[in-house]
Amino acid sequence: MTLKIGIIIGSIATESINRKLAGAIQQLDVDDVEFFEIPIKDLPLYSWDHDADYPAEGKALKAAIEGADGILIVTPEYNRSIPGALKNAIDWASRPWGTNSFNEKVVAVIGTSPGAIGTAAGQQHLKSILAFLNTIQLGQPEGYIQFTPDLLDEHGAFANEGTAKFVTSILQALAALIYKVQD
Ligand code: FNR
Repeated sequence: MTLKIGIIIGSIATESINRKLAGAIQQLDVDDVEFFEIPIKDLPLYSWDHDADYPAEGKALKAAIEGADGILIVTPEYNRSIPGALKNAIDWASRPWGTNSFNEKVVAVIGTSPGAIGTAAGQQHLKSILAFLNTIQLGQPEGYIQFTPDLLDEHGAFANEGTAKFVTSILQALAALIYKVQD
């Protein structure tokens, strides 16, 4: 069975390096896995005023998450935490109360930053939010990727075989966890 992995990119910047990382991930050859993006850019700012009549963007986000076999969040670290746009999307997905779309969803996190710790601090915040939302998280391998000029080649693929293998191992572990949960 081919697993459908929804990718949420935590940055809404046009030239986002995390969007580039997501692009490289989608070029990897991982058995029985296909990716689709779950967009977050057009979501309005969440408030519970919307709960009584969820807008189409909120409904689409929830349906996409619920329809995925697993979620991969590819996110930058902003001010040692997660971008506001990503938190906003998570808030939309978690509501209205009692309809948390992340409930028992298998989720993995990866991210890239020019800094040496490669989004590690931001991911700790994200993992704490995802724990509260009752997701089933991939703990290992952790995906802290330093964005250097030679990370990707001219096609946007991983330039280095070692990096490609390492990121593939994260996706294989995510797929194995999904199979275990679905069993
Ligand atoms: C950053 N950046 C950053 N980098 C980092 O390693 N740790 C951090 O805490 C921050 N904080 C931060 C805050 C804000 C508001 C911005 C705009 C940037 C730098 C960041 O890693 C860099 O701009 C990346 O390009 C951001 O990823 P995207 O948005 O290009 O995917």
